[in-house]
Amino acid sequence: MSNSMHIYVTRKIPSQGIELLKEAGFTLTINSEDRIPSLEELKENLSKCDGLLCLLTDPITSELMDAAPKLKVIANYAVGFNNIAVNEATKRGILVCNTPDVLTHTTAEHAWALLFAVARRIVEADTFTRSGKFHGWGPLVMIGHDIHKKTLGVVGSGRIGSAFALKSRGFEMEVLYYNRTPNKELESLLDAKKVSLDELLKRSDFVSIHLPLTDQTRHLIGKRELSLMKKSAILINTARGQIVDEEALISALKNNSIAGAGLDVYEHEPTIPDLLKSLDNVVLQPHSGSATIDTRQRMSAMAAENIIAALKGNQPPNCVNPEVFE
Ligand code: DGY
Repeated sequence: MSNSMHIYVTRKIPSQGIELLKEAGFTLTINSEDRIPSLEELKENLSKCDGLLCLLTDPITSELMDAAPKLKVIANYAVGFNNIAVNEATKRGILVCNTPDVLTHTTAEHAWALLFAVARRIVEADTFTRSGKFHGWGPLVMIGHDIHKKTLGVVGSGRIGSAFALKSRGFEMEVLYYNRTPNKELESLLDAKKVSLDELLKRSDFVSIHLPLTDQTRHLIGKRELSLMKKSAILINTARGQIVDEEALISALKNNSIAGAGLDVYEHEPTIPDLLKSLDNVVLQPHSGSATIDTRQRMSAMAAENIIAALKGNQPPNCVNPEVFE
């Protein structure tokens, strides 16, 4: 089957979605290099496409949309869509889609991996052991922080935040959460308490961020908020780097005013300040929260399904501006 519609895929992605788009008969242009396309490349390819499958690293601005007269759907290969000017898309009648749910547990697991890595100094201890510094069991060697029975602070109790909180069950933790609306599931299953952000920061041993990036959440965690945290507390961020004031975080880590941080995301991604990289009390990851074989395939299929539905004139299953359709 072939149809005259053209899809631009801004980077190589796992095969499932590509197969679906091919089966649907679309003409595909796939960035053949494993790198972020330049603005010029985006502009040139968008000028001829009906559908765009893009990544969180592609800023899809009004200027780009103006250069895309035929564009009907933007399918982001991510649950977060802060890289897309959604209001501008809506004004132009362009559907914007994302990939929720399929990555919820994968990302929550990654937040736990970071929490463990920082609390038990896993990366530091691995380097220590490999480099020949392990000369036998020692009472003071690589002492870290307990996790069980401690207080877990979950900032944002949406899909990923809730999944993250629920995974604490085996560790018998006290769970506090900060969210606009109450989360009945967390309250009934974990006896979690909804508290103000300040209270959460003051009382938690581990603070994990699970919010989308919006004008309201940008720099939600700054110097003042970090100063409320316990000296022994650990901050985990698998959401978006700009939610935390990175300069303030670096100084809190450097001055040991908090004990550590596990970061998957950065304020000026992919740039990571040298000072942050030089600290022993952080574990750094390359924005890989959803990076498992299964999940990245599911995200690929979901992004394709969103495009196929939209270009068939149906409401895509995961549309963030459904008002375009109405
Ligand atoms: C997302 O989906 O928003 C993650 O940051 C990448 O998977």
